[in-house]
Amino acid sequence: MVKFRKIGVLTSGGDAPGMNAVVRAVTRSALAKNIEVVGIMGGYSGLINEKIVPLTARSVSNVITQGGTFLYSDRCLEFKTEEGMAKAIATLKKYEIDAVVVCGGDGTFRGATDLALHGIPTIGVTGTIDNDITASDYTIGFDTAMNTVIDVVDRLRDTCESHARCNVVEVMGRDCGDIALMTGIATGAVAVCIPEIPFDEELVIEKIKKAALSGKRGMVVTVSEGVFVDDGNGKQIPYGEVLAKAIDDKTGVETKFARLAHIVRGGSPTLRDRLTATRMGAKAVDLLLEGKSNLVVIEKEDKLDSIDIVFALTLDRMYKGKLKDGDLDKFSAEDVAKMEALCQERRDKLKVLYDLAYQVSQ
Ligand code: F6P
Repeated sequence: MVKFRKIGVLTSGGDAPGMNAVVRAVTRSALAKNIEVVGIMGGYSGLINEKIVPLTARSVSNVITQGGTFLYSDRCLEFKTEEGMAKAIATLKKYEIDAVVVCGGDGTFRGATDLALHGIPTIGVTGTIDNDITASDYTIGFDTAMNTVIDVVDRLRDTCESHARCNVVEVMGRDCGDIALMTGIATGAVAVCIPEIPFDEELVIEKIKKAALSGKRGMVVTVSEGVFVDDGNGKQIPYGEVLAKAIDDKTGVETKFARLAHIVRGGSPTLRDRLTATRMGAKAVDLLLEGKSNLVVIEKEDKLDSIDIVFALTLDRMYKGKLKDGDLDKFSAEDVAKMEALCQERRDKLKVLYDLAYQVSQ
């Protein structure tokens, strides 16, 4: 077992419900092993600007119930520069921080791997509502965000039903359609539109007309924010609002548009997020003590595991069709085959759910 005197913990990128539970679990797990813990405020910028606070068992009391992140968050561009990294390393040395746990999404992990390459043992924990870390079946915050979506959309359905209207609801998720797809199924949406699968607008228009004729009054269409369309002048604009207008124009069903945006990023975390955050936070400390670094804690088939961060980031780019030249050069043929299989597995799972959404939306 590796000996650490002090570890730091930070949250970075878009906040997610459950991040506080991660910080609490890291703090208490480390304290239980006689390791001091400090919080790095405001993500990586806290490392650059020396915003370091001691964390005790008491300073993380009650945070498990709170949304947001009490360590605050940031998307820090300076950290990507050599000067930024040098300041961060100097802060870690000055405050005698031996290792770091970071909680966030893919941008956060790019920072984590940079720290690890500079010799700082670093472990990542997946905290993002988007569920877009391809290596992991689950990211902390996803369940709470989806529960918030269904709460809001259920309310929209009430009023849609009263007025015989359709409501197109745009939900976050960046270029991952998981929130839209799963909440679409759970709220009984008449159609779901996600970036990963082509959308047949005409088919949906016909479906809505038919549903209205059969007596269906309230209807919801769920669209992921990651779907864009050309505005006719070469500019990509979000599709949700455009679709709402098309349905309104072509079906005879009055149609409204709602963008849920950041509403779904706040709120008290669900049981799923509190529990997963606690398990992942504790696992991150265990990995550091085993002498591991440059890993991200993931969930696969209901079990916690860990995976090399560079592998996870490259896999993400492969899945999203964003591989850059030379990305795969550092991986063995076996690793590349593993990545391809993981991408296929994810696509297959998504397709099964998408087909189900279609089947039950009449
Ligand atoms: O990654 C989380 C997320 O909420 C995405 O769903 C969304 O696209 C993005 O962050 C919004 O970022 P910001 O809070 O910087 O506007």
